[in-house]
Amino acid sequence: MNSQVIKEDMKKARDIMSHRVVWIRPDYTVDAGIQIMEKYKIGGLVVVNEGRLVGVVTFTDLHSRHPNQQIQDVMSKKVVTILPETTVHEMYDLMKRHNIGRLPVIDEDNYVIGIVTKGDLLTEFNSFAIPDAVIGESGNTSTTIKVDSEAASEKKSETRNWKEVYKRAYSFIENIISAIKEGKEFTIDDGFGIITHIINNQEAIDALCLRATYTENSLDALVSHPVNVTIHALKIGIGLKYQRRQLVDLGMAALLHDLGMARIPKEIIEKEEKLTDKEIEVLQKHPKYGKELLLTLGEDFAWLAEIILQEHEREGGLGYPRGLKGYDIHEYAKIIGLVDVYEALTHLRPYRKPFLPHEAVKEIMGSQRKSFSSKIVKTLIKQLSVFPIQSYVRLNSHAIGRVIGSSEAHLLRPTIQVLYDSQGRKPANKRIIKLHEEPLLYIIDSIHEKDLPL
Ligand SMILES: [Fe+2]
Repeated sequence: MNSQVIKEDMKKARDIMSHRVVWIRPDYTVDAGIQIMEKYKIGGLVVVNEGRLVGVVTFTDLHSRHPNQQIQDVMSKKVVTILPETTVHEMYDLMKRHNIGRLPVIDEDNYVIGIVTKGDLLTEFNSFAIPDAVIGESGNTSTTIKVDSEAASEKKSETRNWKEVYKRAYSFIENIISAIKEGKEFTIDDGFGIITHIINNQEAIDALCLRATYTENSLDALVSHPVNVTIHALKIGIGLKYQRRQLVDLGMAALLHDLGMARIPKEIIEKEEKLTDKEIEVLQKHPKYGKELLLTLGEDFAWLAEIILQEHEREGGLGYPRGLKGYDIHEYAKIIGLVDVYEALTHLRPYRKPFLPHEAVKEIMGSQRKSFSSKIVKTLIKQLSVFPIQSYVRLNSHAIGRVIGSSEAHLLRPTIQVLYDSQGRKPANKRIIKLHEEPLLYIIDSIHEKDLPL
């Protein structure tokens, strides 16, 4: 093995580690842990006992447990320590095999020098290509693993493109749903990578949002719906200035929010007529099923299970299953609940045409105003600007154009570039219309790219 390459890889591995490491003793309480995390603005704590590393806790671990329990109780049971010469590929492989989201990294003297998360690694993952190296695991027993660097670089090119990210999220959900239906085991591990990839490519989020708003009807709605909800929810999380860790958690909850639907009979999901009371009762069990399914993956995901259970709770207390109100509902569940309705309205159903984004917002603001937090509705309007940039629209003059700009003050009247005039002809010169300056013109329809005239 080329020692220069290893050296560079080591340096890189160190570089991507968090520099803020705080040691905390197991007799600290959850409250103390949270205070430390808030003070130092960190998402993970290394817990030591008599100089020995005994675990790592995250902000989410602490928040999902009862206050004042000792830190010792909330530590991850899976603790893996790794040496600094371990490559990025191998760290990722360890996380995957042990189903953990973060690793403490120790130096030769067993001193913790940092924490890496799966998200850190995914951004750097493919910069390295060392086939094998030595890893110390729980007490430094050495093992050698092989890393398939070819598969790794393939993965990089596959995920670079946002269209591929959509496909990846789609297959992730598709595979989980079929595993549940067949009674097989499933993992949610890849979901963290997918969400992290989206968060790391925020410039691609607008493209993904457009895709999520105008999904092809040929896709299976049971699969595309959670993917679309995730993209919109992340956009709202960004609007609410969420930290990276919060975005990952929100994204995971959104991606898995309808997991329980896999247990609802097909006849109910696909029924075109009105559901009977009995059928509604069955359908409304899906948040509970989702929680149960996630808990089969272990206590580590109890926080995720709780958010999923709450996605149909509503601000005024008229949701289900528990009729929770306002502050009792987790903010992630509120975001997912709102986006869930928005996504459903903007897509075709057997009994109605899809609503345009601004019509969906109007519907939510009207009939469902009391169901959602106004702060989150406002963020939705702002973030999912009702006519997304690059989308196609038809005007009342029958001209067709592409949205090229919009402002918060005129969300319903964006700036468009005319592609076809009212006679269906391509304009000879570039023609831009600022709708907010043209009171007689307005948008009557959104058009899918594939429906544009040839
Ligand atoms: Fe749902």
